[in-house]
Amino acid sequence: MSVSINKKLTEIKVLRDPVHEYIRISDEVIWNLIDTKEFQRLRRIHQLGGTYQVYHGAEHSRFSHSLGVYEISRRMVEEVKGLKENLTVFEQISLKCAALLHDVGHGPFSHAFESVTNTNHEIMSIEIILGETQINQVLKSYDPKLPSAVASIINHQHPKKLLTQLVSAQMDADRMDYLLRDSFFTGVSYGHFDLERVLRTLLIHNDRVVVKESGINAVEDYIMARYQMYWQVYYHPVSRSFEIMLTNMFRAIKDVYQVDPEHIKLLTPFFIPFINGKVVSVEDHLNLDEPTCYYGFKTLSKNPKYKTLQDLARRLLDRDLFKYVDYDETIKEKLEKLLLQQGYDSKYYLGSDSMRQRPYIPYRLNNEDNLISILLRDGTVAEITKVSPIVEAMADAKLKEDNKIFSIKEIFDEL
Ligand code: NI
Repeated sequence: MSVSINKKLTEIKVLRDPVHEYIRISDEVIWNLIDTKEFQRLRRIHQLGGTYQVYHGAEHSRFSHSLGVYEISRRMVEEVKGLKENLTVFEQISLKCAALLHDVGHGPFSHAFESVTNTNHEIMSIEIILGETQINQVLKSYDPKLPSAVASIINHQHPKKLLTQLVSAQMDADRMDYLLRDSFFTGVSYGHFDLERVLRTLLIHNDRVVVKESGINAVEDYIMARYQMYWQVYYHPVSRSFEIMLTNMFRAIKDVYQVDPEHIKLLTPFFIPFINGKVVSVEDHLNLDEPTCYYGFKTLSKNPKYKTLQDLARRLLDRDLFKYVDYDETIKEKLEKLLLQQGYDSKYYLGSDSMRQRPYIPYRLNNEDNLISILLRDGTVAEITKVSPIVEAMADAKLKEDNKIFSIKEIFDEL
């Protein structure tokens, strides 16, 4: 017998939160999901990977972000005009669960890690929700159909597009929380926008989320906040340096494993499922968090058998990060030569990346569910670039690019 999906806690739980002030939980299913070990693990994954190497305050976790996304989705259900009436109770709960669980599959240092190990946090989130986990047990105990409903919202397969739009699209609970939260914890002022105003001007029109015409300024502000956060925080070259070092570190571990598996088995067995070329199981994935990775780096930094492993691990622990300059073929060749001369393998001591962003990508590059629609006073609906000259200019602006090349400071000193 399953418990009623709408079962309420005997009293509303209120969690203090620096961004939303309070996070309110009255649904028993949400409270029980927070208590699962898979959700608690998110406390041990930084929301912003290595960004705390630049902004020391950015120590917040995926746990607090996930609670924040839940809170925005809860407020949407309660406050966005027309939403509650458009959703069954089952759909309302599914939406809140999806918001809470949307990032549950993240691994340590997401991007650097995924690029070397062929794991994917979106696929992993779905596997955690549908697999043999505490999360799956909790969801099923309320309704056997709940796990698949929640998964389909997260992977954009839900037939009711409105639900996926609210969790991940252009103006969704996920982005709204991370902009505010990342800006709060980094201490930069760019990510702010008027969440209250945005929530007040959203409404449901023909089964789609739209913004009232009077909300255009709040939307412009939100798009601008997003653009600036990218260049000030997410694409900061120092966090990119940290990510490249992690990528090179994992590559080095993988290469040593090929020639000397016993060494890795002995020192850092928890990395093996990610580098042995086999499919990563949910269990192995959940087993790895950032403290475990750091423990691994510490162990490798103490062992002299493989100099590169030891040295890269030491650099990561001591924040002896790669330096960088704008990408240039001739500089790259010089760096490679110098590395070779000094006995460093450029496979592990050099890296480059390419960041690009257009201030606003409108509908033509996205599908229809992913555009920002404005409900005009005359009752017609227009895509935002048609009614906001600022967003139109942002959509037409040329692509901003930043390509950098990274290596150790000893080599740059020689340049
Ligand atoms: Ni998220």
